Amino acid sequence: MLHTAIEAAHRAGRMIAERYPDGHTLTIKGYRDLVTDADTAAEALIIDLIRERFPDHTIVSEEGGGSESSSDYTWIVDPLDGTTNYVHHHPVFAVSIGLVKRGDPLVGVIYDPLREHMFVADRGGEARLNGVPIHVSRVANLGNAMVGLDWGHSNEVRKRILLYLHQIAPHCGTLRVLGSAALAMAYVAAGWLDAYFHIGLKPWDTAAGMLIISEAGGRCSTLEGEPYRVDLPGCLSTNSLIHDELLVLMRRPDALA
Ligand code: IPD
Ligand code: CA
Ligand code: CA
Repeated sequence: MLHTAIEAAHRAGRMIAERYPDGHTLTIKGYRDLVTDADTAAEALIIDLIRERFPDHTIVSEEGGGSESSSDYTWIVDPLDGTTNYVHHHPVFAVSIGLVKRGDPLVGVIYDPLREHMFVADRGGEARLNGVPIHVSRVANLGNAMVGLDWGHSNEVRKRILLYLHQIAPHCGTLRVLGSAALAMAYVAAGWLDAYFHIGLKPWDTAAGMLIISEAGGRCSTLEGEPYRVDLPGCLSTNSLIHDELLVLMRRPDALA
């Protein structure tokens, strides 16, 4: 299953990269929510490969090409995470493929096709980047930390993120917005970000990243400190060391007003 996830991510990523920056057509899916024919073609390619190998597995995929079954195994696919970047010729996007068994993450693969970065993890194994083990950073103080976040689509989400930012910004080293939730989570796993949070997430944004982070020694929770599950919109991912410090800031009542 890990090999299939890697192969699917690689094939889809190559196709997306070939159409970048100008070889795609754009459709407006929702408010500030874009989709291109590269998203749908990548989705079809990934789903075809999974169905060929595991015909009875459930597939949940962002653009709706998946199918339900009674299997314990569910593939959770974001064929192109960072579509807004892709459309703006901003070279930060990835393919994300997660596999869960009755809700427990088993396999996670995130592939950045421009940099040829393949982040992978399987449950109980190591997290790896292009075959080399990765580990979260050792930054132990928020004052030295690089914290990632994303804006989401709705103004309601953006306003709440501003409240969290108001709490965090005065205390952290610096802040980054990548525009690809999956890649930001891979970067936490690799130690290239010390933390990342978002409150407008979908299962396909995080299914792969949460496993890669935990196998790399990091931690994911809700912003209230409860265990994170892929069906929840809010996630705080960190190197573990600065997790509680961030949770304390995020719990302050003015952050939740
Ligand atoms: C989006 C990206 C973005 C995040 C949005 C997601 P998409 O995914 O991950 O960074 O802020 O909330 O919807 O639409 O490009 O797959
Ligand atoms: Ca996404
Ligand atoms: Ca997507």
